[in-house]
Amino acid sequence: MSDHDTSLRTPIVAVLGHVDHGKTSLLDKIRGSAVSEGEAGAITQHIGATAVPLETIADMAGDLVTVEDFDLPGLLFIDTPGHHSFSTLRSRGGALADLAILVVDVNDGFQPQTEEALDILQRTGTPFVVAANKADTTPGWNPNENAPIKPSYDAQSDTARQRLDENLYEIIGQLSDDGFSADLYWRVQNFQKNIGVVPCSALTGEGVPDILAVLMGLSQRFMKAEMEIDVAGPGEGTVLEVKDQQGFGATLDVVVYDGTINEGDQIVVGGVNDPIVTEIRALLQPQPNAEIRVENRFERVDAVAAAAGVKIAAPDLDEAMAGAPVRVVRDRDVDDVIAEVEAE
Ligand code: GTP
Ligand code: MG
Repeated sequence: MSDHDTSLRTPIVAVLGHVDHGKTSLLDKIRGSAVSEGEAGAITQHIGATAVPLETIADMAGDLVTVEDFDLPGLLFIDTPGHHSFSTLRSRGGALADLAILVVDVNDGFQPQTEEALDILQRTGTPFVVAANKADTTPGWNPNENAPIKPSYDAQSDTARQRLDENLYEIIGQLSDDGFSADLYWRVQNFQKNIGVVPCSALTGEGVPDILAVLMGLSQRFMKAEMEIDVAGPGEGTVLEVKDQQGFGATLDVVVYDGTINEGDQIVVGGVNDPIVTEIRALLQPQPNAEIRVENRFERVDAVAAAAGVKIAAPDLDEAMAGAPVRVVRDRDVDDVIAEVEAE
C-alpha cells in the first residue's frame, strides 16, 4: 500500500450496525466511491473488504491525521450487511475485526441489529467507536463539508445543536444500559475504556476526519499489543465469497488476517463436503480503495501479507464455502492442516 513498515500487520476495521444506518455510505465517503448507490434494493448482501492506504486516510482526515505519526500501511475495512437476515455475516465480520465502527442513525437510534452488533463487539472484546451518523438531517443543520465535527457542532444554531444533543444523549444512554461507558468523543481521554461517540454525516463528510483519527489512535495501541504477529508466517484467511472470474473459473474472495500468502502456495480450504487441497494459480489484488465485492480490475501479485482482501484463483474451488477457513500449508504436514481446517 505505501512504503511504511511492511512487516506490520494492517489492522482490520469492521463496520457494523442496523440496516440503512449508513455503513456503506460512510465507507464510500472514506474511499471516494459510490458502492452504496449500485446495491440492489440499496441493501448490502455480502461482506466486503477495502484496503485504504494511510495516505488516503490522512487526506480525508485533514489536520487530524498526519502520515508521519503512524507506522501503519493503512486500514482494511470490512463492510457488513445490516439487514436482520444476515446475522451469520455480521458475526463473521465481527470475528475478523481488530477494531470496529458501530454506525447508528442519530434519528433512528438503537435498533435490533445495533444491539446485535454490540453483542458481537462485547463478546469478541473488540475496541470500537460509535459513528452517530446522519447528523446532517438534524432540522436547521448547517453543513460543513468534510470538516472535523467539533467546530461544526459549535457553529450550529442553539436549536439545531440541542436537537442533535437530545439524539446523541439517547445513544449514550443506550450504550450505558448495555454496560458501556460512553461520551461525546471530544470528552473521552481513553478510547479503550470509554466509548467515543462521533456525530457525523456520511453524506457531507462532517465528523469523518474524527472517526478516522480515533481509529488510527486505537490502531497504534492495538498494534503495540499485537506487535508480535509474524506477517511472514503461513497465511490464514476467511472466504468471503466463491465467485466465477473470467479466465479463472471459480475463485475465492478472501480476507487474509494473518501471515503471508504466495502464488504457488499449497492451501487447504473448507469445502461443502471435505476440505479442498489445492495450489494457488494466481493472486489477484483489488486496487487501493476498491471494494473487492464489486471490483473487476485486479492486479496480479506474487504475495499478499495480512491484513488484505485478495482473490485466489486455483483449481477445484467450485465446492469451497463462504465463511470457510483458508490455510497455507508451507512447511507443515498437509494432514495436520486439513485437521485444523476440519476442526474450525
Ligand atoms: P445495509 O448495508 O443494507 O445495512 O445499509 P447501510 O448501513 O450500508 O446503509 P447505506 O450506506 O446503504 O445508506 C442507506 C441510505 O441512507 C442511503 O439512501 C444513503 O444515501 C443514506 N445515508 C447514509 N448516510 C447518510 C447521512 O449521513 N446523511 C443522510 N442524509 N443520508 C445518509
Ligand atoms: Mg451497506
